[in-house]
Amino acid sequence: MNTCKHVVLAVTGASGACYARRFLERAAALPDVSVHLFLTDTAREVWRHELGCEAPQGLDNHRFDAPFCSGSAAADVMVVLPCSMGTLGRLAAGTADDAIARMADVQLKERRPLILVPRETPLHLLQLRNMTSLCEAGAIIAPAAPAFYARPDSLDALVDAFVARLFQLAGLQALDEQYKWS
Ligand SMILES: Cc1cc2nc3c(=O)[nH]c(=O)nc-3n(C[C@H](O)[C@H](O)[C@H](O)COP(=O)(O)O)c2cc1C
Repeated sequence: MNTCKHVVLAVTGASGACYARRFLERAAALPDVSVHLFLTDTAREVWRHELGCEAPQGLDNHRFDAPFCSGSAAADVMVVLPCSMGTLGRLAAGTADDAIARMADVQLKERRPLILVPRETPLHLLQLRNMTSLCEAGAIIAPAAPAFYARPDSLDALVDAFVARLFQLAGLQALDEQYKWS
Protein backbone atom coordinates (compact mmCIF):
# COMPACT_ATOMS: atom_id res chain seq x y z
CA MET A 1 0.00 0.00 0.00
CA ASN A 2 1.19 3.52 -0.83
CA THR A 3 1.53 5.34 2.50
CA CYS A 4 2.98 8.54 1.04
CA LYS A 5 1.23 11.64 2.36
CA HIS A 6 0.26 14.17 -0.29
CA VAL A 7 0.63 17.67 1.09
CA VAL A 8 -0.49 20.80 -0.72
CA LEU A 9 1.64 23.77 0.29
CA ALA A 10 0.02 27.03 -0.83
CA VAL A 11 2.19 30.11 -0.49
CA THR A 12 0.41 33.48 -0.65
CA GLY A 13 1.51 37.09 -0.56
CA ALA A 14 1.84 37.68 3.18
CA SER A 15 5.15 38.29 4.88
CA GLY A 16 6.92 35.07 5.92
CA ALA A 17 8.31 33.42 2.80
CA CYS A 18 11.04 32.01 5.08
CA TYR A 19 8.45 29.71 6.68
CA ALA A 20 7.45 28.28 3.30
CA ARG A 21 11.08 27.74 2.30
CA ARG A 22 11.80 25.93 5.56
CA PHE A 23 8.64 23.85 5.16
CA LEU A 24 9.87 22.67 1.75
CA GLU A 25 13.35 21.89 3.09
CA ARG A 26 12.01 19.95 6.05
CA ALA A 27 9.50 18.00 3.95
CA ALA A 28 12.22 17.05 1.45
CA ALA A 29 13.93 15.11 4.24
CA LEU A 30 10.85 12.95 4.82
CA PRO A 31 10.74 9.97 2.42
CA ASP A 32 7.01 9.41 2.81
CA VAL A 33 5.87 12.98 2.16
CA SER A 34 5.20 14.45 -1.25
CA VAL A 35 4.71 18.23 -1.37
CA HIS A 36 2.71 19.86 -4.16
CA LEU A 37 3.61 23.53 -4.23
CA PHE A 38 1.36 26.38 -5.39
CA LEU A 39 2.14 30.09 -5.17
CA THR A 40 0.08 33.17 -5.88
CA ASP A 41 1.60 35.85 -8.10
CA THR A 42 2.09 38.11 -5.07
CA ALA A 43 3.73 35.31 -3.12
CA ARG A 44 6.46 35.29 -5.76
CA GLU A 45 6.99 39.04 -5.30
CA VAL A 46 7.16 38.74 -1.52
CA TRP A 47 9.53 35.74 -1.77
CA ARG A 48 11.88 37.77 -4.00
CA HIS A 49 11.70 40.77 -1.68
CA GLU A 50 12.21 38.85 1.58
CA LEU A 51 14.59 36.09 0.53
CA GLY A 52 16.47 37.80 -2.30
CA CYS A 53 15.92 34.98 -4.80
CA GLU A 54 13.24 33.61 -7.09
CA ALA A 55 10.59 31.33 -5.63
CA PRO A 56 10.51 27.74 -6.84
CA GLN A 57 8.37 27.12 -9.92
CA GLY A 58 5.50 25.26 -8.30
CA LEU A 59 2.30 24.16 -10.05
CA ASP A 60 0.01 26.45 -12.04
CA ASN A 61 -2.35 28.27 -9.68
CA HIS A 62 -4.49 29.47 -12.59
CA ARG A 63 -5.55 25.99 -13.73
CA PHE A 64 -8.28 23.92 -12.21
CA ASP A 65 -7.07 20.60 -13.53
CA ALA A 66 -4.52 20.55 -10.70
CA PRO A 67 -4.55 17.17 -8.97
CA PHE A 68 -6.25 18.25 -5.75
CA CYS A 69 -8.99 20.47 -7.20
CA SER A 70 -11.47 17.61 -7.04
CA GLY A 71 -13.03 15.92 -4.08
CA SER A 72 -12.20 12.59 -5.66
CA ALA A 73 -8.51 13.39 -5.25
CA ALA A 74 -8.30 15.60 -2.16
CA ALA A 75 -4.90 16.09 -0.56
CA ASP A 76 -4.08 14.43 2.76
CA VAL A 77 -3.43 17.87 4.19
CA MET A 78 -3.27 21.41 2.83
CA VAL A 79 -1.26 24.19 4.45
CA VAL A 80 -1.55 27.83 3.42
CA LEU A 81 1.75 29.30 4.57
CA PRO A 82 1.78 32.24 4.92
CA CYS A 83 -1.87 33.12 4.37
CA SER A 84 -2.52 36.70 3.27
CA MET A 85 -5.64 38.51 4.38
CA GLY A 86 -6.65 38.64 0.71
CA THR A 87 -6.55 34.86 0.36
CA LEU A 88 -8.17 34.46 3.78
CA GLY A 89 -11.10 36.60 2.59
CA ARG A 90 -11.45 34.61 -0.63
CA LEU A 91 -11.36 31.31 1.23
CA ALA A 92 -13.94 32.53 3.74
CA ALA A 93 -16.18 33.61 0.86
CA GLY A 94 -15.69 30.28 -0.95
CA THR A 95 -14.79 32.00 -4.23
CA ALA A 96 -12.81 28.98 -5.52
CA ASP A 97 -11.43 31.34 -8.17
CA ASP A 98 -7.93 29.89 -8.43
CA ALA A 99 -6.46 26.47 -7.71
CA ILE A 100 -5.50 27.41 -4.14
CA ALA A 101 -9.01 28.66 -3.30
CA ARG A 102 -10.60 25.66 -4.99
CA MET A 103 -8.34 23.15 -3.20
CA ALA A 104 -9.08 24.79 0.15
CA ASP A 105 -12.78 24.52 -0.67
CA VAL A 106 -12.32 20.84 -1.48
CA GLN A 107 -10.46 20.20 1.78
CA LEU A 108 -13.34 21.73 3.74
CA LYS A 109 -16.15 20.01 1.88
CA GLU A 110 -14.37 16.65 2.10
CA ARG A 111 -13.64 17.25 5.80
CA ARG A 112 -9.90 17.00 5.18
CA PRO A 113 -7.29 18.98 7.14
CA LEU A 114 -6.76 22.58 6.06
CA ILE A 115 -4.22 24.60 8.04
CA LEU A 116 -4.14 28.35 7.54
CA VAL A 117 -1.21 30.42 8.78
CA PRO A 118 -2.39 34.03 8.65
CA ARG A 119 0.13 36.84 9.08
CA GLU A 120 -1.17 40.29 9.74
CA THR A 121 -1.27 42.68 12.66
CA PRO A 122 -3.38 44.29 13.91
CA LEU A 123 -6.52 42.56 12.69
CA HIS A 124 -9.81 44.26 11.88
CA LEU A 125 -13.24 42.80 12.49
CA LEU A 126 -13.74 41.41 8.97
CA GLN A 127 -10.43 39.53 9.16
CA LEU A 128 -11.35 38.14 12.57
CA ARG A 129 -14.76 37.12 11.23
CA ASN A 130 -13.16 35.45 8.21
CA MET A 131 -10.97 33.41 10.56
CA THR A 132 -14.00 32.51 12.66
CA SER A 133 -15.98 31.40 9.58
CA LEU A 134 -13.12 29.25 8.34
CA CYS A 135 -12.59 27.78 11.79
CA GLU A 136 -16.31 26.96 11.99
CA ALA A 137 -16.05 25.30 8.56
CA GLY A 138 -13.26 23.05 9.85
CA ALA A 139 -10.00 24.85 9.09
CA ILE A 140 -7.22 25.06 11.65
CA ILE A 141 -6.11 28.65 12.17
CA ALA A 142 -2.46 28.65 13.17
CA PRO A 143 -1.22 32.26 13.18
CA ALA A 144 2.43 32.84 12.35
CA ALA A 145 3.28 33.40 16.01
CA PRO A 146 6.45 31.52 16.90
CA ALA A 147 7.04 30.57 20.54
CA PHE A 148 10.05 31.78 22.49
CA TYR A 149 10.10 29.23 25.30
CA ALA A 150 12.59 27.03 23.44
CA ARG A 151 14.89 30.07 23.54
CA PRO A 152 15.76 30.30 19.85
CA ASP A 153 19.19 31.84 19.37
CA SER A 154 18.72 32.87 15.75
CA LEU A 155 16.07 33.75 13.20
CA ASP A 156 16.59 30.33 11.58
CA ALA A 157 15.95 28.60 14.91
CA LEU A 158 12.76 30.60 15.38
CA VAL A 159 11.52 29.71 11.90
CA ASP A 160 12.52 26.09 12.37
CA ALA A 161 10.62 25.78 15.63
CA PHE A 162 7.45 27.20 14.11
CA VAL A 163 7.64 24.96 11.06
CA ALA A 164 8.26 21.93 13.30
CA ARG A 165 5.04 22.84 15.14
CA LEU A 166 3.21 23.00 11.79
CA PHE A 167 4.55 19.54 10.91
CA GLN A 168 3.11 18.27 14.16
CA LEU A 169 -0.26 19.92 13.43
CA ALA A 170 -0.29 18.51 9.92
CA GLY A 171 0.43 15.03 11.21
CA LEU A 172 3.69 14.85 9.27
CA GLN A 173 6.19 14.51 12.10
CA ALA A 174 6.21 14.42 15.89
CA LEU A 175 7.45 17.60 17.54
CA ASP A 176 11.16 17.51 18.34
CA GLU A 177 11.84 17.41 22.09
CA GLN A 178 13.87 20.61 21.83
CA TYR A 179 10.78 22.58 20.80
CA LYS A 180 8.51 21.37 23.60
CA TRP A 181 7.64 23.38 26.63
CA SER A 182 9.35 21.77 29.62
C1 LIG B 1 6.42 42.76 0.74
C2 LIG B 1 4.94 42.57 0.98
C3 LIG B 1 4.53 42.08 2.21
C4 LIG B 1 3.17 41.86 2.46
N1 LIG B 1 2.81 41.36 3.68
C5 LIG B 1 1.51 41.05 3.90
C6 LIG B 1 1.15 40.43 5.12
O1 LIG B 1 1.96 40.16 6.00
N2 LIG B 1 -0.15 40.09 5.28
C7 LIG B 1 -1.10 40.31 4.33
O2 LIG B 1 -2.25 39.94 4.53
N3 LIG B 1 -0.78 40.93 3.15
C8 LIG B 1 0.51 41.30 2.91
N4 LIG B 1 0.86 41.89 1.72
C9 LIG B 1 -0.22 42.27 0.78
C10 LIG B 1 -0.65 41.11 -0.09
O3 LIG B 1 0.43 40.62 -0.83
C11 LIG B 1 -1.78 41.57 -1.04
O4 LIG B 1 -2.96 41.83 -0.30
C12 LIG B 1 -2.07 40.58 -2.14
O5 LIG B 1 -3.19 41.04 -2.90
C13 LIG B 1 -2.37 39.19 -1.62
O6 LIG B 1 -2.59 38.36 -2.73
P1 LIG B 1 -2.67 36.80 -2.61
O7 LIG B 1 -3.57 36.50 -1.47
O8 LIG B 1 -3.26 36.38 -3.94
O9 LIG B 1 -1.29 36.28 -2.44
C14 LIG B 1 2.20 42.13 1.45
C15 LIG B 1 2.65 42.59 0.20
C16 LIG B 1 3.99 42.81 -0.02
C17 LIG B 1 4.42 43.29 -1.39
